[in-house]
Amino acid sequence: MREYYDRRAAEYDEWYMGTGLFAARERPGWHEEVAALCDAIAALPVKTTLDVACGTGFLTRHLNGSVACLDQSERMLGIAAERMPSARIVRTEALPLPFADGAFERVFTGHFYGHLRPGEREQFLAEAARVAAELVVVDSRERPDHAAEEEQERILNDGSVHRVFKRYFTGPGLAAELGGGEVLFDGDWFVMARRATAVPGTRVAPSCQADLTGGPCQASFTSCRTTSACCGTQPACRRASSRPPWGCRARPSTRSRPGGTPPRSRSPSRSPATSTARWRTSFMGTTTMHRVFHSRWWMPAFSVGLGLAVLAAFWAGGDLGSGLWGLAVMTVLGAVFLFGGRSETLSGLGGPGRDERWEAIDIRATAATGFFLITALIGAFLWEVGHGRDGSPYGQLCAFAGIVYIAAVAFLRWRG
Ligand SMILES: C[S@@+](CC[C@H](N)C(=O)[O-])C[C@H]1O[C@@H](n2cnc3c(N)ncnc32)[C@H](O)[C@@H]1O
Repeated sequence: MREYYDRRAAEYDEWYMGTGLFAARERPGWHEEVAALCDAIAALPVKTTLDVACGTGFLTRHLNGSVACLDQSERMLGIAAERMPSARIVRTEALPLPFADGAFERVFTGHFYGHLRPGEREQFLAEAARVAAELVVVDSRERPDHAAEEEQERILNDGSVHRVFKRYFTGPGLAAELGGGEVLFDGDWFVMARRATAVPGTRVAPSCQADLTGGPCQASFTSCRTTSACCGTQPACRRASSRPPWGCRARPSTRSRPGGTPPRSRSPSRSPATSTARWRTSFMGTTTMHRVFHSRWWMPAFSVGLGLAVLAAFWAGGDLGSGLWGLAVMTVLGAVFLFGGRSETLSGLGGPGRDERWEAIDIRATAATGFFLITALIGAFLWEVGHGRDGSPYGQLCAFAGIVYIAAVAFLRWRG
């Protein structure tokens, strides 16, 4: 199992993003539901959380508050650590959990519980109850094309084949299995349920006690407790715990899903304490902008639109031939984005493959472009002036760039 997940680590997020081998899969509503699930996780109250079997941290990064990421796979954790540089990383087996009773406020786990066999499940539930008062479990929803429980054959990009035990849940079914909890999310693809335990530490796995005092589990900690990728101990973040868990985007569903994916609230929480989370969820979340920029049609439409503008400009200038060439080039570019297949780069540039890492790359690339462009403008301005000309239009463009920069800084500071 460890080998499977180590091999899968680099391509794991393709499952969420619908790239790689998953690009060809017909999964209606998948992207919207992944976004809604992330929003639902981001809307959980701020708590000190242990994410058991965190994988690449795709879901973990949306948890607010101090987060510890536990997984057996070094490569999965490597990606999670890159994503959440300030999170605590723990490489170890999940059973038993190498933590003291009540060490966390919440245990969170995604797509792990459904891989546990009888016996392991009970042990996991007991361990989760021991280390935290609350347990939140995310897993796959029952699907017509899958048995509720099955042995699956998984094929990775390198062609290797692996066998995996996997279960699918209904929201109420999962909540009942957790020992009576509430369904927090009940979609077409994912379910999330929460069990609140009265007193953490009531069921202690004896084998773990030794690990708490410096046993082998301790040695596998690669870094010590810090704050999470969100905002850790900042006052704004702590205040956010008073916000209702569903004040944000995906609403809870307590019955077996009449309508599949939960509709999202149009009115996000107005609490000032949620500003950080709100910014983050709109950055990664479900705003119209997000949907537009992450659509597979965005880049092709933009390319063709730009081609048409080029055509119109050349035509107006009396050079229809060059305009048609411009349109043709931009249309081909749009087609490359649309039919670019499994290329992660094209998918990231084009929109659908954008995750947080891609957003960060995009911001850095845009900043680098701006830097070199402005440097070139200043150079051209100085060249022109040095040759006895007035420096147009480079001087004006430099001034424009300076004004835009100052306005952007002021706006971003105002927005917080
Ligand atoms: C399907 S992935 C889920 C990743 C992530 N939680 C998510 O929801 O996307 C399962 C993860 O469980 C980890 N895992 C499997 N068995 C484990 C065990 N016994 N102890 C710790 N981690 C385990 C794997 O390394 C893998 O990262």
